[in-house]
Amino acid sequence: ARRTLPLSWLFIGLGLLAAVAVPVGLAIQLDEPPEPRGATAQKRRVSPLPACDYGKQRTELTSYDDWQRTLLDTRFRLPRSYEPPDLVTTTRVGVGTDEMTIREIVLEDLDALVSAADVAGNPVDITWGYRSFRTQRWVFEYWTEQKGEEALKTAARPGHSEHQLGTALDFKTKGAANVDAGWRFEPAGQWMHDHAWEYGFIESYPLGEEKVTCYSAEPWHFRYFGREVAADIHRSGLTIREYLWRRLPTSSR
Ligand code: DAL
Ligand code: ZN
Repeated sequence: ARRTLPLSWLFIGLGLLAAVAVPVGLAIQLDEPPEPRGATAQKRRVSPLPACDYGKQRTELTSYDDWQRTLLDTRFRLPRSYEPPDLVTTTRVGVGTDEMTIREIVLEDLDALVSAADVAGNPVDITWGYRSFRTQRWVFEYWTEQKGEEALKTAARPGHSEHQLGTALDFKTKGAANVDAGWRFEPAGQWMHDHAWEYGFIESYPLGEEKVTCYSAEPWHFRYFGREVAADIHRSGLTIREYLWRRLPTSSR
C-alpha cells in the first residue's frame, strides 16, 4: 500500500498536466492560422487586379474627354465607332508620314518630346499613331497569321488597343526601319524609357511586367496622359493597367 500511493499521485499529476497542456497546445495551434489568412485577405483588397482573361466587355469611360481614364486591356474594349474627332496628321510636328494621325491634344507635348530627344542626341520618329477598330482588326489578323495564338501577346484584338484612343504612339530611332524588344537597351529606347514621362508619355508594356500588362514587352509603345497625370503614374511605380484599375474605381469594379 505504501507503494501504490505515490504511483496514483503520478497518474493524477500526469492527468492534471494533460488537462492544462492539451487545451493550451490546441489554443496555440488554433491561434496561428488566422494571421496568414488575414494577411492574404488584406492583400487581395489592396491588389484587386484581375487576371489577363479575354473578354469583350465595353469599358466604362468612353467619352472623348475621358482619354486619360479609359481602361483598356484584354477584357475591356472600346466600341467599334470610337474615333476621336480631333485627329491630325503627325507630320505637323515633323514625325511619321501623311497617313499617320494622332489627337490634337497630344501634339504640343509630342513636339517637345521629339525636340528633347534630338537635343539629347537620341532622335526619334514614330511608326504608328491612331488606329481605327478596322485597322486594328487587320493588325491582329496579320499577327495571328504570323504567330497563331501567340499573337494575343503581341497585338490587341480590335477595340482593345490603346491606338484606337488616338493617344498612343509607337516610336523608333529616327532613320531606322523599325525596332524590336532590344530597343529598350539601345540609346534612343533607353532615353524614351527614362524621359518620356516628363513630356506626358507612359510606356504601356514594360519589360518584366508582362503578367500585369497582359502583353509582351513593347519598349516602343507609349500612351499619352499629359504631364501631370504621367508624373503621377511615374511616381506610383504602377503600370497603366494597375494605375487605372486601382486609382479610378468605378461602379462595376
Ligand atoms: N501592340 C499593342 C498591344 C496593340 O496592338 O495595341
Ligand atoms: Zn503600339
